[in-house]
Amino acid sequence: MSDANDIDKPWAGRFTAPTDAFVEAFTASVGFDKRMYKQDIAGSIAHARMLAHVGVLTEQECQAIIGGLQDIQLEIERGEFAWSTTLEDVHMNIEARLTDRIGATGKKLHTGRSRNDQVATDIRLYLRDQIGVMARELRRLQEGLLELAEREADTIMPGFTHLQTAQPVTFGHHMLAWVEMLMRDQSRLADCYQRVNVMPLGAAALAGTTYPVDREFTARELGFDAIAENSLDAVSDRDFAIEFVSTAATLMMHLSRFSEELILWSSAQFDFVDLGDSFCTGSSIMPQKKNPDVPELVRGKTGRVYGHLMSLLTLMKGQPLAYNKDNQEDKEPLFDTLDNVKGCLRLFADMMPQITVKAENMREAARRGFSTATDLADYLVRKGMPFRDAHEVVGKAVRHGVETGKDLAEMALAELQGFSEIITQDVFGVLTLEGSVAARDHIGGTAPEQVRSAIGRARDRLSQFKLAEPIQT
Ligand code: ARG
Repeated sequence: MSDANDIDKPWAGRFTAPTDAFVEAFTASVGFDKRMYKQDIAGSIAHARMLAHVGVLTEQECQAIIGGLQDIQLEIERGEFAWSTTLEDVHMNIEARLTDRIGATGKKLHTGRSRNDQVATDIRLYLRDQIGVMARELRRLQEGLLELAEREADTIMPGFTHLQTAQPVTFGHHMLAWVEMLMRDQSRLADCYQRVNVMPLGAAALAGTTYPVDREFTARELGFDAIAENSLDAVSDRDFAIEFVSTAATLMMHLSRFSEELILWSSAQFDFVDLGDSFCTGSSIMPQKKNPDVPELVRGKTGRVYGHLMSLLTLMKGQPLAYNKDNQEDKEPLFDTLDNVKGCLRLFADMMPQITVKAENMREAARRGFSTATDLADYLVRKGMPFRDAHEVVGKAVRHGVETGKDLAEMALAELQGFSEIITQDVFGVLTLEGSVAARDHIGGTAPEQVRSAIGRARDRLSQFKLAEPIQT
């Protein structure tokens, strides 16, 4: 008679036939969940300490378990651990190895626990640490942007609406727009962290456990800020992962917009910036090419992160309480999101100091595009003309400029007076690009002085984000 026990599955007791080979491969998650080995071991050590603390394990048993788990961690880190698909996932692989190493005491570790609360705990620990890593990379990118903004606080470029030249802005001001978007991403990450760092352990399979567990003890050991209030919810919901991937998707949306600008700006048509040779690649056929591959790939990767968000939302919808195996599918989208977003942030942070700004080209583009037309209208308004009339007068002056190939600042006073007699010599003060940006002199405006003080405030705000250090894991 076939006996499932002879294939060594921890749950083989109620089975009489072994698992179909393809079912085994199909249901296994060890291929991708083994990356949580540290969190799994940290969770098990905390659980064992708690069991000893409440008297379910003896101190000696607890020490044997901890020693065994620490040795297993070394084995894994030395690349000597034999991961087995038969043992399905990271949890059963480590637990089985523990029993191999320390004997029967190893079998006591799983007292008062289930893989359902164990896996939910592992993911939360893993994600918690990864959020810290990501937040640090994001901060490094913001710091790079702030440095660029400081260096180029006076540099003038055309500001765009509809990708048509609109009004002059400073390059520093433009960089600060990115800093602000990323600041909100920082704050979304910090917010999401609070809901990630909640401990499921103690929920066991779904209903809690009959052992006198001390969940507060375990939570303290693992650095969780709170414990999950409801056992059914604790083992089943993955909304924390959805929230994180949604935050990541928004961040990628920002990086994608940023990428798009860098791609445009580094083209021969704009020629506003140089991205640095180490961040570009050439073409195998066209010798003149220097392609902005990094921003292009980042823009492209945004799509897969959006896809992961949709996967997780769809994975969760329609699941009855409590744990269902569907949830095993949460890991790959989450891990792929983490890997890619961290990679994108790292590249962007590294790229910032490599960006060379072509100030002359940007200035020339701003000059060519009648970007001070609004300034001329504002000038006429200050001299008493209603804004709508001023708009009309300047529109005619611009048409004349288009016909004669002259910017407003290049017209003679008499020429300008042909459009309105109230224009006098002082008009040239407002028609210059420097005059235009300096006049937007209020909080949030593009004047170089305002940019400098905004940089200071942004640095303060950035330093206020408390980025949790990885705890045990
Ligand atoms: N590998 C599983 C997962 O990722 C662990 C939990 C399995 N629990 C169970 N009762 N089958 O979700």
